[in-house]
Amino acid sequence: MSTKFLLVTLPFLAYANWYSPIDIEISTASLKCPAYKCATSSISIANNACGNYTSSTYYLKPCSSTTTTPLCNTTSLLCTAASPASILQSYPGEPCTTLSDCKYGTCIRNVCVGQKLTQSCTVHDQCDPGLRCSAGGLCSYQYKVGENGCRDFKDCVNWAGCNATTSSAVGVCVQYASVPNGQTVTDCTNGSSNLCITGACVKTGTWFGTIGICKEASISTVNLPLACSKDTDCLGTDGINIQISKCSCGYNGNGQSYCHPFIGDSVGVSLISTWVNALKNSGNCNTSRRATYECMKVAGYFEETLTS
Ligand SMILES: *[C@@H]1O[C@H](CO)[C@@H](O)[C@H](O)[C@H]1NC(C)=O
Ligand SMILES: *[C@@H]1O[C@H](CO)[C@@H](O)[C@H](O)[C@H]1NC(C)=O
Ligand SMILES: *[C@@H]1O[C@H](CO)[C@@H](O)[C@H](O)[C@H]1NC(C)=O
Ligand SMILES: *[C@@H]1O[C@H](CO)[C@@H](O)[C@H](O)[C@H]1NC(C)=O
Ligand SMILES: *[C@@H]1O[C@H](CO)[C@@H](O)[C@H](O)[C@H]1NC(C)=O
Repeated sequence: MSTKFLLVTLPFLAYANWYSPIDIEISTASLKCPAYKCATSSISIANNACGNYTSSTYYLKPCSSTTTTPLCNTTSLLCTAASPASILQSYPGEPCTTLSDCKYGTCIRNVCVGQKLTQSCTVHDQCDPGLRCSAGGLCSYQYKVGENGCRDFKDCVNWAGCNATTSSAVGVCVQYASVPNGQTVTDCTNGSSNLCITGACVKTGTWFGTIGICKEASISTVNLPLACSKDTDCLGTDGINIQISKCSCGYNGNGQSYCHPFIGDSVGVSLISTWVNALKNSGNCNTSRRATYECMKVAGYFEETLTS
């Protein structure tokens, strides 16, 4: 038995998924979660393994850091080698040791260097941090907050989005999480907006589009953290209607699951302000890479923005 509700979760890590509510089946069945415990000497674990899954419990032990297989794969429960860093190539502004580490440009003093101001480009990614690829195909300065002319968020400084409808040619760069309730934004998708101060919006108009009005965010009506067994234990409100969040397995010794907060709960509010603060300090990240973990590492905000 399950019923369909609009579920609002916390924003995910990647920029594209910020504040995305997910319209999914909400289960009314009780969750069954595995437990996670440290392995004791009575649990048998093979030499190349880091865990043993027995009677719904993961018994874990660290892999030896001095071997060639220092990482625990928590799916296979085997000790594995660290993945070679060069599989994901660096963008301009990101670390490198050789030319082949860089997706674009060259590697100079351990940093990938891309196209500079007024040099030619076809995509934003080729340009150095602080620059965008203009419609004319030249690396140009990103538009500042309040400047007119953007076509998408990558045209704006790293802490602003482009308030423009897809049908209109250009828009104005607006700082993330700055637009008060009641004002219009053009990035309202599934009830979420990066431009609204609360992260929440309601779509206006009946046509397909992303124009909406900033509104109060949903909050939990239960005290968090709340141990739950099913989604319908996790109640909240948007001020008008009852909202249901998600009950998810935790990583703990007794297999307990907990309710996800809503974006309007205090942890959600602080997550938004942490991200805006991090983005304001991400000037060394190129425009397409804002809010990726690679950028957060360069900016020194990796730990702060890591939420899972
Ligand atoms: C909005 O929700 C729909 C339905 O769940 C989903 O398919 C779509 O990817 C979501 N859009 C965004 C931008 O998250
Ligand atoms: C897991 O531990 C149990 C108890 O020590 C043991 O019987 C079992 O063989 C172990 N399984 C694996 C895959 O090592
Ligand atoms: C971990 O193990 C699973 C199952 O064997 C495998 O599919 C997955 O690719 C592994 N993950 C990594 C990061 O190696
Ligand atoms: C800068 O932009 C380029 C191209 O857009 C990208 O490949 C690179 O990773 C970016 N650098 C940073 C530090 O984000
Ligand atoms: C965003 O664009 C819409 C449509 O042009 C406009 O009505 C609204 O005032 C703009 N909002 C901001 C914060 O600039």
